[in-house]
Amino acid sequence: MKKILVTAGPTREHIDPVRFISNYSTGKFGYEIAREARRRGCRVTLISGPTALRAPSGVKIIRVETALEMKEAVKKLSKDADCIIMAAAVCDWKIKKPHQKKIKKSGSSIDLELEENPDILKELGREKKYVLVGFALETETLEKNAAKKLRDKNIDIIVANKLADNNLFGSNNIDIIIMDRFGRKARFRKKSKKALAKIILDKALNFTI
Ligand code: CTP
Repeated sequence: MKKILVTAGPTREHIDPVRFISNYSTGKFGYEIAREARRRGCRVTLISGPTALRAPSGVKIIRVETALEMKEAVKKLSKDADCIIMAAAVCDWKIKKPHQKKIKKSGSSIDLELEENPDILKELGREKKYVLVGFALETETLEKNAAKKLRDKNIDIIVANKLADNNLFGSNNIDIIIMDRFGRKARFRKKSKKALAKIILDKALNFTI
């Protein structure tokens, strides 16, 4: 039985006990992938940031909030995985000094200093004994940027998605390009995330590293 690790959803980075920064990810794509992998008889663990979605049945779910929590959970399980699919929209930055108490208004502007979060996918690319699938969300020069991420992060397969009017967060039918480390490339238009989950798993589960 193949062991698949999927991440999904956004992360949240704390500003103070009542506020955070995050992004528009809904988690739909990762959840569809986890559901489909389970349907194919894989043993699936889904590490999920905060979403409104119900866990697919038969899938072990680990809920996390911050990028650091996601990294810790992924690292713990990565050694045992045959395939890791990083569909999560991990926040690139966190607040450098989160406030312990609620920040009060003072009538003037405030500065929040951000520092980079670790790149979980890149770290996974360094010690690879599994098929590694990454995502790339771009607003411009999709193919070039995705190909660079594939190389720089030592990924096997990248699913590239351009944020545009017909390709928005939370939408169901999207356009994507799938590229792999051998230079193969396939384009899919107006496909549901459910259909794309099947296509991604067909490729990932049969990929030879
Ligand atoms: N990712 C990650 N850890 C981060 C940021 C991103 O593991 N701190 C992963 C995501 O899960 C995704 C891939 O990296 O699979 C690409 O994420 P994306 O936001 O498109 O790109 P970045 O690598 O963050 O680069 P940039 O924001 O500069 O485009």
